[in-house]
Amino acid sequence: MAQEDVFKKLVAHCKEYGFVFQSSEIYDGLSAVYDYAQMGVELKNNIKKYWWDSMVLLHENVVGIDSAIFMHPTIWKASGHVDAFNDPLIDNKDSKKRYRADVLIEDLMAKFEAKIDKEIAKAKKKFGESFDEEQFKATNPRVKANQEKIEAVHKRFVAALDKNDLEELKQIIIDNEIACPISGTKNWTDVRQFNLMFSTEMGSTADGSSKIYLRPETAQGIFVNYLNVQKTGRMKIPFGIAQIGKAFRNEIVARQFIFRMREFEQMEMQFFVRPGEEMKWFEKWKETRMSWHKALGFPEEKYRFHDHDKLAHYANAATDVEFKFPFGFKEVEGIHSRTDFDLSQHQEYCGKKIQYFDPELNKSYVPYVVETSIGVDRMFLQVISEAYTEEKIEKEDGKVDERVVLKLPAALAPVKLAVMPLTKKDSLPEKAREIINDLKFDFNCQYDEKDSIGKRYRRQDAIGTPFCVTVDHQSLEDNTVTIRYRDTMEQERVAIDQLYTILKKEVSLKELFKKLK
Ligand code: GAP
Repeated sequence: MAQEDVFKKLVAHCKEYGFVFQSSEIYDGLSAVYDYAQMGVELKNNIKKYWWDSMVLLHENVVGIDSAIFMHPTIWKASGHVDAFNDPLIDNKDSKKRYRADVLIEDLMAKFEAKIDKEIAKAKKKFGESFDEEQFKATNPRVKANQEKIEAVHKRFVAALDKNDLEELKQIIIDNEIACPISGTKNWTDVRQFNLMFSTEMGSTADGSSKIYLRPETAQGIFVNYLNVQKTGRMKIPFGIAQIGKAFRNEIVARQFIFRMREFEQMEMQFFVRPGEEMKWFEKWKETRMSWHKALGFPEEKYRFHDHDKLAHYANAATDVEFKFPFGFKEVEGIHSRTDFDLSQHQEYCGKKIQYFDPELNKSYVPYVVETSIGVDRMFLQVISEAYTEEKIEKEDGKVDERVVLKLPAALAPVKLAVMPLTKKDSLPEKAREIINDLKFDFNCQYDEKDSIGKRYRRQDAIGTPFCVTVDHQSLEDNTVTIRYRDTMEQERVAIDQLYTILKKEVSLKELFKKLK
């Protein structure tokens, strides 16, 4: 099945099983804004806990805060967002649709890359075991031609971004005959810059209201609290401040479901270090963050680092952790060495000293910062798109059954255990409730007595529940139940008092933490 079809099915699945709904759906929806439903919020909370605990519990020099969304407007002037937080936009004159010029060019390069992947997959199938991918890439004329096209576009693209050359961005689009996906024409306007921040008014006009912004990143809430946290927490450099919170961007090209939203959530950590030591910490956090991703057990080849083509105004090094979504490799997390830019700017704009006295060096300085910044929603999309699996199962009578199963890492699954009485009578429901009452303080459990056991299993598979337990008549006699494992569908008889230990071992975040480097 084509990857776009898989993605469409995933989006439909997210709605059908209560993970993600379009915001304001009964009013025909609000574009690029989504609500997390009863299952989605559990998965999202588990992702946030995995991140928060890995930062704050596992690092004694990282503490957390929760700063306000509304902040003094001068903060955004100091940070550079008022003047430079822009996207280069281009309109198609026929469809009247607006696009990000950089995204059109990136999509073109991704198309060439997809052609290369296709050639490789074909050759792999043909040559089997003896296939040498590196040699194939170096010698196949079609692969080489596409690689050359990527390199040529990339070279011009990077140069244009570096010089902020909007005319050249348009010329790349024209020269490569990029057409509007809606009208199919190449009738483009010039490229213009567009600021992404939402603004609103605080206070009544009579009192003299002031324009304030909805934060486009949570990081500034950390920078402006640096002094308070450092002093009150008696923090010694190097140390980090972590935060999870909402951010807002007036994205013009919002698409791919929850990948690019106008209201989203970030998990950011700013690590304050000695000037000159930032590259060492940049490398360290790159490794730490990649290990956090890989501990979830998804295929290694789905991850890669992608160094930024153009560094943001505040950075001296930057890379993205990219994941292979059904629509290709895309950024999930950014790791940036932000120098002393933000703290120095705030020092200048607020007129107060923002420095650290380093007792070992016996001098004061503005600390340098290495930041890790990951979108909760993109992480959610990564997890659920990788977990979504359609399987064919051969039954005993030779017929083929199908199931959709979310193979979520057990620690992230919204529901950990479903307890099902075989029938609605003979005290089996009461026994099932007894089990839930015992386990509900530790695990999210669901009780389900409706329909056949087979149907109930399918419902739990569809929301990714790792364990189902069936209570039958034997359970009343010997206090045992049948436990069924989601991924293998194997079943075994276990004592009810073993359930806690079985679940604890599999669903605890500790199992993921043990895999971290
Ligand atoms: N403080 C640095 C910063 O905000 P960024 O690369 O602009 O850096 C960090 O954003 C992460 O936030 C991205 O890697 C992505 O996961 C998430 N993100 C950014 N814009 C988003 C959007 N419109 N919708 C969903 N997630 C977004």
